[in-house]
Amino acid sequence: MVHALIVLQEMTAIYNKIGDTYSSTRRADERIVDRIVSLLALPNGVRVLDIGAGTGSYSFALAERGFQVTALEPSSVMSAQAAEHPNVSWVTGSAEKLPFDSGSFDAAILVLCIHHFTNLEVALSEVVRVTGSGPILIFTYDPSKVEDPWLFEYFPVFQAQIKNSFPSTDLLSSHFSSRGRVSIHGFPLPHDLNDSFAGAAWRYPERYFDQAFRDGTSAFRQLDPEICRHGLEQLREDLETGRWDQKYSHIRSLSVYDHGYTFILSNGQIPRK
Ligand SMILES: C[S@@+](CC[C@H](N)C(=O)[O-])C[C@H]1O[C@@H](n2cnc3c(N)ncnc32)[C@H](O)[C@@H]1O
Repeated sequence: MVHALIVLQEMTAIYNKIGDTYSSTRRADERIVDRIVSLLALPNGVRVLDIGAGTGSYSFALAERGFQVTALEPSSVMSAQAAEHPNVSWVTGSAEKLPFDSGSFDAAILVLCIHHFTNLEVALSEVVRVTGSGPILIFTYDPSKVEDPWLFEYFPVFQAQIKNSFPSTDLLSSHFSSRGRVSIHGFPLPHDLNDSFAGAAWRYPERYFDQAFRDGTSAFRQLDPEICRHGLEQLREDLETGRWDQKYSHIRSLSVYDHGYTFILSNGQIPRK
């Protein structure tokens, strides 16, 4: 019990330490919202739990689309940056111990947060418990894609971090196998993504020199400063000498790029209204 409390406090502290500038670069992207809405395939007015809601940008966007949203977030630094919406209510807590009765929600979403959980298995059991037979939708990184994006040439440490912290799609699917169909939906990133997570600037390598951009991502914010400086120096040199463009110039004309971001949907059964 004491151990669980300490783990929770440490985990909460991460975003209390690194989340102070989050809302300046991280906003809901409407194409991600569209995808969430179409994958959930639920009628207006249903109760959606947004776990690891952060600053609530996706909670707000879903409320604008007519859902009744509960935003669950452990970090007060994150929730303090949220814009208010009459159809969003905020609850402080963690995914490993959801403070809700079983079957309280018609659906749950988990956007770019499961890699921060202290106990994924317990957390997903909790999500299943409170969601009953409704859909559960996870937006995450598929670690099998980690060899591909150019960014990792400059920051190879991210590859190990991803392998250590992002569960495989097979593992995630197996957690939900008893609930029926699980489907995987890759999400190639548009070049003009509004939500500036770590892979978002794939077409604009120069943006990685922008500290505000980097500070909005846990990957860069938690990166050893020396390793970060080294990676940026190499990137700058390759851009100046034209080496980056020799290797990757085709990327500059793409409108979308598969960086490894993926939706995992456990359908459950469509709840009755
Ligand atoms: C990258 S942010 C994503 C926030 C939001 N979903 C979004 O996409 O804007 C990850 C969030 O997960 C939260 N988080 C970390 N551990 C958590 C846990 N065990 N349970 C619930 N949320 C957690 C963090 O506090 C942080 O706000």
